[in-house]
Amino acid sequence: MRDLRLSLSIPGRPLEFPLAERVFRPTHEPVRSVRTLCPRMTRPIVIHDPADLAPYAHGMFVPTMGALHDGHLSLIRQARTHGGPVIASVFVNPTQFAPGEDFDAYPRGLDRDLELAGSAGCDVVYAPNATTMYPEGPEAAVTAAAACALPEVAVRPRLEDADRPRFFGGVCLVVTRLLQHVRPTVAIFGEKDWQQLQVVTAMAAADPDLASIRIEPGPLVRDPDGLAMSSRNTRIPAELRDLALGVPRALQCAHAAQHPETAERLMRETLEAHDLEVDYAVVRDPATLRPVTDFARPTRALIAARLRWDDDSVRLIDNAPMTVWR
Ligand code: PAJ
Repeated sequence: MRDLRLSLSIPGRPLEFPLAERVFRPTHEPVRSVRTLCPRMTRPIVIHDPADLAPYAHGMFVPTMGALHDGHLSLIRQARTHGGPVIASVFVNPTQFAPGEDFDAYPRGLDRDLELAGSAGCDVVYAPNATTMYPEGPEAAVTAAAACALPEVAVRPRLEDADRPRFFGGVCLVVTRLLQHVRPTVAIFGEKDWQQLQVVTAMAAADPDLASIRIEPGPLVRDPDGLAMSSRNTRIPAELRDLALGVPRALQCAHAAQHPETAERLMRETLEAHDLEVDYAVVRDPATLRPVTDFARPTRALIAARLRWDDDSVRLIDNAPMTVWR
């Protein structure tokens, strides 16, 4: 016990999990989380090398691209409810951005992410660099992403797949590698990125190496004004925020409609009334994301729209469950 007090008394110096586990693991019960043993520790352990992840295998995993907000933190809190170590990854994945997309402008800040992740109960932040994730080099990585076998929901709906043709190849490649490095029992993905959630679920189920990992959805978190939280929201100029709110307002209009076609028309009209450029505003089957034929089953409204100002822009995506139409 003396060692534990000594380590905690050094400000800003995080405890190493393996040390904590070895020294303080009670013999009568399994270690469920570093935090249970060291409640005052707020900054997670940072790991850059996948070899150092071995002690945390079979934990709860939340993959992210950083610039954390309450949406991410709700997934970390959800992971905490399962017990076991909670691992979040922070990696801005170049293969899911096409040339001309906002890879360079994507907000970054590991220090802030560590504070926030720790405050939500994250034990370990896995922050690999690009060479670790893509030892084959950047060009070969893009080729590998393009060659990824994708499930139908990643290629048929003509939603994100149509607007960002490279996106799901890059997501599937990086998520596969992250899951191979972290080897969790559960991986949590947010409903904010509804199509991504369906794609990752289908991809993991189809891969014998990943099929034992449970992909768990986490509810979409909104700001008090209704805007779905997103790392990209920090780039929206304050005076244009009301235009961005056209997205959740469009989903509300869809909810009040009597038929999917009316819902789609109302969403488009609402988005355009907010000067938003519509990529899609549709009502679809929640699992296949194909157009709805059976109106007695639950559906999902999905929106992607771009807010432009000066020579900059942000692409907003959002979705919501719809009532059953009869
Ligand atoms: P990122 O956009 O950082 O999101 C990480 C996770 O947080 C995703 O599962 C996403 O759906 C979830 N999330 C984001 N905003 C949310 C909100 N407002 N409410 C609930 N969950 C939210 O999605 C990615 O990164 C990347 O594509 C990744 C899966 C990490 C692969 O690179």
